[in-house]
Amino acid sequence: MKNILVTGGSGFIGANFIRYLLSETDYSGRIVNMDLLTYAGNPENLSGLDASAQGRYVFVHADICDAAAVKNAFEAYEIDTICHFAAESHVDRSIVAPDAFVNTNIVGTFILLEEARRHTDRLQRFHHVSTDEVYGSLGKEGFFSEETPYDPSSPYSASKAASDHLVRAYHRTYNIPVTISNCSNNYGPYQFPEKLIPLMILNGIADKPLPVYGKGINVRDWLFVRDHCRAIWTIIQNGRTGETYNIGGECEIPNITLVQTLCDILDEMVPPGQNRPRSNLITFVNDRPGHDFRYAIDSTKLKTELHWKPEASFETGIRQTVQWYLDNPDWVARVQSGEYRKWLTENYGERG
Ligand code: NAD
Ligand code: DAU
Repeated sequence: MKNILVTGGSGFIGANFIRYLLSETDYSGRIVNMDLLTYAGNPENLSGLDASAQGRYVFVHADICDAAAVKNAFEAYEIDTICHFAAESHVDRSIVAPDAFVNTNIVGTFILLEEARRHTDRLQRFHHVSTDEVYGSLGKEGFFSEETPYDPSSPYSASKAASDHLVRAYHRTYNIPVTISNCSNNYGPYQFPEKLIPLMILNGIADKPLPVYGKGINVRDWLFVRDHCRAIWTIIQNGRTGETYNIGGECEIPNITLVQTLCDILDEMVPPGQNRPRSNLITFVNDRPGHDFRYAIDSTKLKTELHWKPEASFETGIRQTVQWYLDNPDWVARVQSGEYRKWLTENYGERG
């Protein structure tokens, strides 16, 4: 592996993955980050890479739906490995405006697969990063395994399911060396504050309402983002071609319990504000349409075959995450004011 294409490397998990690759693994090749820099992509997520990394890190500002741009990058950088993160990732946005989800998540994945098909001679791995949401919703019992039938509920999860099917089909039909991972909810540094955990942290710090959907009884299985990155790298290196691996945190928490925990941590870590306890800020709002009740992952295959297991406990991971948002007020302010998109307009004009 000498030239890895990371799509969506300026987003939350992609940026954590690039940082992980550069600082915690022995990968010594080039990393090409192809990112369109949508609202979710932030160049500042990758600022401060040390000088030695810069020589091995290349940024390509492009849309994965742009076949010519994808072809150029494959050829210019002799791509031999792909780790495909780029996606529209937020369920609520997919309910309001599904178009971009169909384009990026389905068509974009198809464009990448088509380009991969032209380079089967040198392509070692096409790793597709997907979600547990493709499996739909669990009741109170049971876990998602790799054999669970697909049953997506939202335009987001349906578009990810479609992309998974395409990836699998390209393996069976064209022998593309794919692997797929389906992961549960991630949290950690650099997550865009539309998602539950960073939204609650930042609203809690600012004494703003904490909107909990429905009764707050929906359950998610939380995984610290570094553990997801470790799992992906393990699968890229050692996963069996054509296989799917589920990745989970073994950390099921009902939303209301999670928000209450965040309130308690903020009460402890942030100097007193007007609203204490911060749980006074919890506001029950209308439920998300088609809201999946529960996600819980069985990661036995990944654990037994590839010897991965989550390292961070929720207790340490969540405190580290809250601390990160407290320690990075400039990142937060630029994201909240929209200033983080200045780089794009400065370099590409208003079309950015
Ligand atoms: P994110 O929204 O933070 O980042 C997405 C990135 O993709 C951004 O940098 C954005 O600019 C880029 N992008 C979007 N459209 C693009 C396009 N057309 N061309 C090129 N780049 C484009 O997402 P995330 O939370 O980091 O998720 C990354 C991947 O992991 C997604 O595929 C998502 O489905 C999957 N996933 C996420 C989670 C989670 O909890 N966040 C869990 C499981 C799987
Ligand atoms: O399970 C993996 C998925 O996790 C990923 O594929 C998605 O990309 C990622 O966004 C995440 O999806 P969720 O919909 O589970 O994440 P979100 O942070 O939006 O919501 C988590 C839970 O919190 C969910 O039950 C809805 C609820 N929620 C969310 C928000 C934003 C609230 O109660 N209030 C909120 O304001």
